[in-house]
Amino acid sequence: MICEYMEYVYIKNVKIAKTAALAPMADVADGAFRTVAKKYGAAYTVGEMVSAKGLVYGDKKTAALLKTADFESGFERPRAVQLFGSEPEFMAKAAVIAAGERPDIIDVNAGCPVAKVVKTGAGSALLKPENAKLFGGIINAVVSAVDIPVTVKIRSGWDENSINAVETAKIAEYYGALAVAVHGRTKRQAYSGTADWGVIAAVKKAVNIPVIGNGDVDGAEKCVQMYERTGCDLVMVGRAARGRPWIFRDIARYVETGEPPSALDLTEILAVMREHIELIVRDKGESAGMREARKQAAWYLKGIRNAAGYREKCARLVSLKDFYELAGRILADAGS
Ligand SMILES: Cc1cc2nc3c(=O)[nH]c(=O)nc-3n(C[C@H](O)[C@H](O)[C@H](O)COP(=O)(O)O)c2cc1C
Repeated sequence: MICEYMEYVYIKNVKIAKTAALAPMADVADGAFRTVAKKYGAAYTVGEMVSAKGLVYGDKKTAALLKTADFESGFERPRAVQLFGSEPEFMAKAAVIAAGERPDIIDVNAGCPVAKVVKTGAGSALLKPENAKLFGGIINAVVSAVDIPVTVKIRSGWDENSINAVETAKIAEYYGALAVAVHGRTKRQAYSGTADWGVIAAVKKAVNIPVIGNGDVDGAEKCVQMYERTGCDLVMVGRAARGRPWIFRDIARYVETGEPPSALDLTEILAVMREHIELIVRDKGESAGMREARKQAAWYLKGIRNAAGYREKCARLVSLKDFYELAGRILADAGS
């Protein structure tokens, strides 16, 4: 019975519709992306991971990552900022700085598999069994430093021989984390293979805080399957939202009414893409913005006729005018 999911999960006092949330994605889910994700139905957003050290040392680019998209209107709410680091003191200080930007939630990254993060002892390095004490210390330090809810995002474990999401989630709960997001892959898997939803179900059984299920949800039906198979309290979508932010609207509608999603036509796709790219340029200026827009634009074109040729053109976009011309060409080619 689909409608039973049209409920809310509470992370302390933060109320989130049980549809789907946008996963944190460094270099992808910036303010512009989060704005379109939110506009097209994301129940909750998590910002790009932010270096605790960078924040504490006053790095301006790092601090800029904490900004709420559309702060004045409170549009991007509820929302979390995510911190990564390996030292409890830095994480605590960074949390205080981050709280100054008034997010609803601070999330701790214990899942990033990227070498430059892991080698500093942060991200998924915190999942190594020998780092359990440090992991607990970090959660404890962040929870003690701020008075907004603290959550954590983990993976199933470091590798196939150390699947420890249940233990990790219990430690997080013990030290005061108020929700745990579980990506059902190990660090070693990075993004390969398929996510093990059994791990998410096991975590759900083991803790009393909300569990956010994550991994491989790429549409409305898959989202409902994630809720049903894992018992999770909220579903989080990452990669499938790239070039398809309306996935959240599809999910919300399906969860609310059981109505299956209908595909957007080319004109509608290009309209969302234009909206997104104009926001990137508004936030980052035309030069840097269009560099960022290249990859975002290419994602929107996935699956359309002649996509490969258009994607090559995306890689050369330097101005908004280039983009408008490309969009016009795509429509003209399609005879729209
Ligand atoms: C480009 C990219 C950047 C990511 N950046 C982050 C990040 O900053 N913090 C984080 O916790 N997870 C990050 N992730 C992991 C996602 O949040 C998510 O856990 C993962 O993609 C699995 O979900 P999906 O199958 O819905 O994509 C990133 C993933 C991708 C593909």
